[in-house]
Amino acid sequence: MKKILIAIDGYAACGKSTLAKQLAAHLHYLFLDTGAMYRAVTLYLLENNINWLDAAALDDALNNISIAFQRNEDGKIITFLNGDDVEDAIRSMQVSNKVSEVAAVSAIRKFLVQQQQEIGKEKGIVMDGRDIGTVVFPHAELKLFVTADMDTRVQRRLLELQSNDIPVSEQDIRDNLIKRDKEETTRTDSPLMQAKDAILIDNTNLTPEEQFTFVLKLVEAKLK
Ligand code: CDP
Repeated sequence: MKKILIAIDGYAACGKSTLAKQLAAHLHYLFLDTGAMYRAVTLYLLENNINWLDAAALDDALNNISIAFQRNEDGKIITFLNGDDVEDAIRSMQVSNKVSEVAAVSAIRKFLVQQQQEIGKEKGIVMDGRDIGTVVFPHAELKLFVTADMDTRVQRRLLELQSNDIPVSEQDIRDNLIKRDKEETTRTDSPLMQAKDAILIDNTNLTPEEQFTFVLKLVEAKLK
C-alpha cells in the first residue's frame, strides 16, 4: 500500500497536533510533533543557563541534547530529553515564552531539521510544525496550512493547559500567542508561511471530527 508524507503547518494552538494524531492513528502512520523538539531544546537551554546567542556554548549544548519519543500505557506520546520524561515541562509558559526566540536560531533549526528529515525518510508519517511543507519536506505529498481566529486559539489552549493542570491565565496565553505569531512570521530563517501548494484550513468553526473528515478525503485522494 502506498505511503505518503503529510505536512501540517500553521499557527500555534490551532489544533495541528490534534489533527496530526487523528490522521496518524487512522492511517497507522508515525506522528512527529516537531514543536516538541524545539520546546525540548528550549527547556535544556533554560535549565542549563545557556545563552543561545553564544555560538560556541550553543554548539556544546546541542552535542549534549538527545530527543526521543515514546508512547506510554495510555497511548499518549511522551517527549524525552536525554532520557527524562519532559512532556509536562516543555508545555510550561516559561518554555512557551522563549521557544520562538530559540527557534529563530539557525544552528538550532539545522540541528532539528536534520533529525526530522531522517525520521521522515520512511514515509507513512504525519509531521506538524511551522516549516514542514516549506523547508523540511518541500516534496511532501499532502500539505496543509491550519489557522483559526485568535479568540478560538486562546480558548483551545486554555482548555488544553487547564486539563493538564498547568496554571495559566487567559491573558498570558493571548500575549504569548500574539508574540509567537509575530516572531515566527518575521524571522529570517524558515518563517512561518503557507507553502504554495498547501491547502488552507481555517478551523475556527469546525469540530475536530469535521476537520478530520474533511482532511481524510484529501488524504484518500492522494492514496489513489
Ligand atoms: O503547540 P504550539 O502550537 O503552541 O506550538 P508547537 O508546535 O509546540 O511549537 C513550539 C514552537 O516551536 C513554535 O512556537 C515555533 O516557534 C517553533 N517551531 C518551529 O519553529 N518550527 C517547527 N517546525 C515547529 C515549531
